[in-house]
Amino acid sequence: MSVFPEILKENIYKYIEQSGTIDFRSAAGQLTERYHAPLRTQFMETRAHRIAYLLTRMPATYAAIIKVFKEISNRLEAFSVKSFLDLGAGPGTGMWAIKEFFPQIVSCTLIEKDPALISLGKKLADGKGKWLYGDIEKMEFFDPHELVLFSYALGELKDQEGAVLRAWRATEKFLVVVEPGTPVGFERLKKIRQFLISQGAYLLAPCPHMHTCPLKQNDWCHFSVRLNRTSLHRQMKGGSLGYEDEKFSYLVFSKSRSLNPCKGRILRHPQKQSGYVEMSVCTDEGVQRKIFSRKEKEIYKWARKAEWGDQINQTN
Ligand SMILES: C[S@@+](CC[C@H](N)C(=O)[O-])C[C@H]1O[C@@H](n2cnc3c(N)ncnc32)[C@H](O)[C@@H]1O
Repeated sequence: MSVFPEILKENIYKYIEQSGTIDFRSAAGQLTERYHAPLRTQFMETRAHRIAYLLTRMPATYAAIIKVFKEISNRLEAFSVKSFLDLGAGPGTGMWAIKEFFPQIVSCTLIEKDPALISLGKKLADGKGKWLYGDIEKMEFFDPHELVLFSYALGELKDQEGAVLRAWRATEKFLVVVEPGTPVGFERLKKIRQFLISQGAYLLAPCPHMHTCPLKQNDWCHFSVRLNRTSLHRQMKGGSLGYEDEKFSYLVFSKSRSLNPCKGRILRHPQKQSGYVEMSVCTDEGVQRKIFSRKEKEIYKWARKAEWGDQINQTN
């Protein structure tokens, strides 16, 4: 279960209190609809949309980014980052996530084209981060940073390959792209995956190989992270559930090849039956159905605890 930073929650509530009475419930519904559009435009144009984003989307986005960073650290024991660049930073979700992971991070640069979001993000961040106003489609280059992030921003760009290529040139260690875990979001990532591999990028996660994606046309590779809902969030969603599952798709590209092998990636919730565990795994040889039986003691022990999105390494 992902935990949203307490101080960020407090800053968000303060911002909402200062905003007076605003009906942001219908705005929340509009944000959800916009997530599924092939090209998202005008995502948060009013204060109501921005508040709805802070209450519903920011915690979910934060949880997805943290989960992706965890995957990088699962792949690389020596995962460390000193500088961070967030492209299409919105209210600064990425910076909160990277600071949670690396509290000592030296520099965080955030580029955003919406001045209202920059002003909001700065308020929430209590002066942290270097915030730059800019249109990432029009910027010819970005300054180099160790980790570069597009978090739920790629889908708002017209020339996605161009932006990703400039981001890759600015990447010193890792380029991370996170998108909604929808067929449209995945399709976008699939194109970027092939494109950056053709440019010499190493793919670190989630794929265990760099061959053409083996998923069939009507399937999409996505993962899930569970997060707590605040009471305001529950009211906005009109439900009583105390948590939600955020579905996301992602890619992590690296400047150097990982020496830590990944033999497979679990693509769905493993089916835990009596005496065996069955799972769908993406491998070097395509998508395979794997069965781990009680007879194979050690592997079975691992398989009982394995979750959707986990990697399989040589010791499993
Ligand atoms: C869905 S929001 C995601 C915000 C943030 N990355 C997050 O994860 O919470 C997409 C953001 O990308 C920004 N954006 C879209 N196109 C952009 C562009 N061409 N240049 C800079 N920012 C852009 C939008 O203004 C918006 O803040």
